[in-house]
Amino acid sequence: MPTESLTVTDNRTGATYELPIADGAIRASDLRQMRVDTDDFGLMSYDPAFLNTASTRSAITYIDGDRGILRYRGYPIDQLAERSTYLEVAYLLVHGELPTKEELAVWVDVITRHTFVHESMKRLMEAFRYDAHPMGMLISSVAALSTFYPEATRVDDAENRMLQTYRLIAKVPTIAAWAYRHNCGLPYVYPENDLGFTGNFLSMMFRMAEPRYSAHPVLERALEVLFILHADHEQNCSANAMRAIGSSRVDPYSALAGAAAALYGPLHGGANEEVLKMLAEIGDVRHVPAYIDRVKAGDFRLMGFGHRVYKNYDPRAKIIKATADSVFEVTGRNPLLDVALELERIALEDDYFVSRKLYPNVDFYSGLIYQALGLPVGMFPVMFAIPRTAGWLAQWLEGVVDPEQKIARPRQLYVGAAERDYVPMEDRSAVAVG
Ligand SMILES: CC(C)(COP(=O)(O)OP(=O)(O)OC[C@H]1O[C@@H](n2cnc3c(N)ncnc32)[C@H](O)[C@@H]1OP(=O)(O)O)[C@@H](O)C(=O)NCCC(=O)NCCS
Repeated sequence: MPTESLTVTDNRTGATYELPIADGAIRASDLRQMRVDTDDFGLMSYDPAFLNTASTRSAITYIDGDRGILRYRGYPIDQLAERSTYLEVAYLLVHGELPTKEELAVWVDVITRHTFVHESMKRLMEAFRYDAHPMGMLISSVAALSTFYPEATRVDDAENRMLQTYRLIAKVPTIAAWAYRHNCGLPYVYPENDLGFTGNFLSMMFRMAEPRYSAHPVLERALEVLFILHADHEQNCSANAMRAIGSSRVDPYSALAGAAAALYGPLHGGANEEVLKMLAEIGDVRHVPAYIDRVKAGDFRLMGFGHRVYKNYDPRAKIIKATADSVFEVTGRNPLLDVALELERIALEDDYFVSRKLYPNVDFYSGLIYQALGLPVGMFPVMFAIPRTAGWLAQWLEGVVDPEQKIARPRQLYVGAAERDYVPMEDRSAVAVG
């Protein structure tokens, strides 16, 4: 009968230890008992970027990158994308179960009633420069929301946590749309309570002089699917930021602003912008083979290909491709789509990409869809942040009640100078500082 443990011999001392294994992991703190003498702090594990460290136990999202699987609370992403709505998925992520008809009606009603923001928030947003990046506006405006809800600091109160959850899911699209309107120099559009979540968002983005904006149902549904696909992705950079900041027991607005800041980076939420730049640079299907040759020569990477976790296909990419087709039927074909399709066709047949398990990821097509909807590239990470708000909140809610969690505080391996005496100014010589 195999034993669920790991036997380790510390060759510095010859001592042997047995470390329990639970859920396929040892506890890093179990290493601390391994010491060379009583002054020794104990053995640590060194894991920059947490490549092989589980920071939490979570019941929210499951990913099997080798098999191309993504599930929210056990439900396969393709089933949710096909049959669910974004708000239903948000409920699932936050509460752990799919809602009944009545539960969903209440949830939708409550979220809808929280879509307005304080008028001072509007004035605050109006103060940004005319060309302010919408993601910078979103991050700072979400942080500013904390000042309107001082009771949000009571993170130990379950009812209070849920109230802030409603508010954030409801208000982030309003702020996002207003950031876009600000860049266009257009008046901000107030939410319409009788529109659906994505329909209302499209109205706040695009409504002009018409008394009522009706989004094309295909585009509304396409956005719903994109929102479902982006709602959560377990312990990625921004979810980790949400949990780490939340572990200090700060209010969720401040934590979510930090998570959105993590998303802003080009290695996280900005890859779809890089895909569009690449497609524009290639410009024509005739240039694709030469471009692929340069990728294979190591000149640059094929943007939107490959993934740290998915070494099979990214299950979201397949769904997004079908969504793109439906969007282009309404908006007209994005001329860069042909370049994208040809790139994908050649790459999927080429041994360089096949042997390295490089498949299109979620960003390969999402930028093309956003562009077809008329959005500038600066809005792409914002479009990611809107649905991810539900995922961040689910991660935060799980983290704040987890009895095993404490304030996130990693260790370091100190490699700096040993103790040395202060040098008076007159005795110092210039040292090149990097
Ligand atoms: C996502 C990404 C960072 C994952 O990287 P990773 O898991 O650390 O993979 P590695 O950097 O170890 O790459 C493994 C091999 O595949 C190659 N490779 C990875 N992604 C590649 C790409 N997009 N184009 C060409 N080659 C690529 C690497 O050069 C390396 O080849 P080698 O073994 O000959 O050195 C990487 O695939 C990438 O940069 N993709 C493009 C950017 C992108 O689309 N990001 C969005 C992710 S959602």
